[in-house]
Amino acid sequence: MITPLIDPFARTIDYLRVSVTDRCDFRCVYCMSENMTFLPKKELLTLEELDRMCSAFIRMGVNKLRITGGEPLVRRGIMTFFETMSRHLKTGDLEELTLTTNGSQLEKYADQLAAFGIKRVNISLDTLDEEKFARITRWGRLPQVLRGIEAAQAAGLRVKLNAVALKDFNEDELFTLTDWCAARDIDLTFIEVMPMGDLGNEDRIGQFWSLKDLRVQLETRGGLTDLPDRTGGPARYVRVDATGQKIGFITPLSHNFCESCNRVRVTCTGEIYTCLGQEGHSDLRGPLRASENDTVLEDAIRHAITLKPKGHDFDYSRQQVDGQVSRHMSHTGG
Ligand code: GTP
Ligand code: 5AD
Ligand code: SF4
Repeated sequence: MITPLIDPFARTIDYLRVSVTDRCDFRCVYCMSENMTFLPKKELLTLEELDRMCSAFIRMGVNKLRITGGEPLVRRGIMTFFETMSRHLKTGDLEELTLTTNGSQLEKYADQLAAFGIKRVNISLDTLDEEKFARITRWGRLPQVLRGIEAAQAAGLRVKLNAVALKDFNEDELFTLTDWCAARDIDLTFIEVMPMGDLGNEDRIGQFWSLKDLRVQLETRGGLTDLPDRTGGPARYVRVDATGQKIGFITPLSHNFCESCNRVRVTCTGEIYTCLGQEGHSDLRGPLRASENDTVLEDAIRHAITLKPKGHDFDYSRQQVDGQVSRHMSHTGG
């Protein structure tokens, strides 16, 4: 039995997020600039290498694997990857194999994902207004995503929507979004906007809608009860007493949750980032390619975990952006 991955702050790392591509068919304004330069294909880990990488982490105690991007479903051949990874679900070594997606390709892939043992998907959607959706995603079209959501539900996948809470953007849609999700038995989680990527044109402080305030607004309609439910992610959930609906909050700014962090991220080029909110990373592609035997890779993973920082330094409380990281969210997949 291999010893589990434990970081310097005694946190067990059992959740891996792997970004399989830096590309995306959208250009969300808070996530990418319009003219992104993407990595040349030869820089990417092949699907076989991604499999080896993930399998090494699973041997070392990772039991939850989330595939991200960019947009993971635009990576060529990605269904083959899900299919081969599903063997770890069959053995029970992996408790959950899932993905975070913008939903644009789900109409095409939902059935196959369900067949490979994926039980639920997290879909990013900040607005239900077509015009606003086109504005925030630049290239996205809402009807396509709505068809993707329908296809996912029809395939039996549980759907969770992630909405970034943005002042003057979706504040007026709080109840539209919650009611829309409740009517469709879709889970909903709000996320505070984080200072990731030097986008130049973004006013993070102006955009920031604290989930403390959002919660107060939700409460104008009746009581909320805090729930002990945990999905392994950073969201904390409440139940809307009147309807029974469950709503999640991801609050890196208003309430830091780093002490319970259980995850690391690997990018499509095989860099490991042990914190979303810090610049520090190490290379795993070299160790992976150095030998067909996984010992070198496993040693490199273990070493990287010893460097995991205590947490992020994101902070807007002084009316300025502190703790900004330069890379875009799409680099590490959120
Ligand atoms: P489940 O709980 O399994 O549904 O998923 P999750 O919340 O871990 O995954 P998801 O991809 O839905 O994450 C939603 C967003 O939460 C991410 O895109 C990030 O914006 C944010 N997030 C996830 N993990 C972290 C983290 O470790 N730190 C911070 N600051 N934000 C995170
Ligand atoms: N702050 C918070 N969430 C973000 N996302 C992308 N950029 C940011 C940001 N700067 C979210 C997306 C998606 C997930 C992968 O990360 O909306 O839900
Ligand atoms: Fe963990 Fe870093 Fe996320 Fe904090 S910001 S919860 S330390 S990954």
